Amino acid sequence: MGQNNGLYYILNGGNLSQVQHVVLVLSGKGGVGKSTLTTELALALRHVGKKVGILDVDLCGPSIPRMLNVGRPEVHQCDSGWVPVYTDAQKSLALMSIGFLLEDPDEAVVWRGPKKTALIGQFVSDVAWGELDILLVDTPPGTSDEHLAVLENLKKHKVDGAILVTIPQAVSTGDVRREITFCKKTGLRILGIVEWICVSALFRMQQHLFQRWRRRAGQTD
Ligand SMILES: Nc1ncnc2c1ncn2[C@@H]1O[C@H](COP(=O)(O)OP(=O)(O)O)[C@@H](O)[C@H]1O
Ligand SMILES: [Mg+2]
Repeated sequence: MGQNNGLYYILNGGNLSQVQHVVLVLSGKGGVGKSTLTTELALALRHVGKKVGILDVDLCGPSIPRMLNVGRPEVHQCDSGWVPVYTDAQKSLALMSIGFLLEDPDEAVVWRGPKKTALIGQFVSDVAWGELDILLVDTPPGTSDEHLAVLENLKKHKVDGAILVTIPQAVSTGDVRREITFCKKTGLRILGIVEWICVSALFRMQQHLFQRWRRRAGQTD
């Protein structure tokens, strides 16, 4: 890290100093539409002229790169950290996924707590976001060490709160109660709870969303 840049970042609160808002997306279960919500929210905010960042910290299922059709690009480093991947020429949507940094994405599944926590901790504070209106953090399912590591490393920066995601099934809504307890215990404000539509309509909706992503990514076939 260059000496001047290093001092600048320390004095100004690190890589998140020019990020106006930070929002976490949480769910008790995997597969309930957390990454989908993060992606749709980011695209909607970009649509109204906001500069948006997505931090994908789901080690076991980093799905945002696929949803935004960016594949597995090579990630570069600058003086202040990892350079996010921009999905458009205007640089209005920046993405950093933990999946980009893993040589073998399948390997992370068997990592133990401390290794995961250390990587996530470093990852959260080491991305050179620059100016952003909002940073959305897509987290793994549950309320585990990974979540605490994210919060711990965002402590210096004000986190606006969390959006909880669920589907209308007893097993999933039950998990939301645990998420609410987690938010209360960690002092994380709950900005809202999104209950996706009923499961019987999921398939049609999924097709619709995929077509939209492909259109946005310029794929016409
Ligand atoms: N509202 C929705 N309606 C229909 N399908 C959805 C919806 N949200 C997500 N899906 C689909 O469900 C699957 C899991 O979604 P994902 O967002 O990856 O969940 P999570 O991040 O919670 O694991 C994906 O195939 C996605 O396309
Ligand atoms: Mg996900």
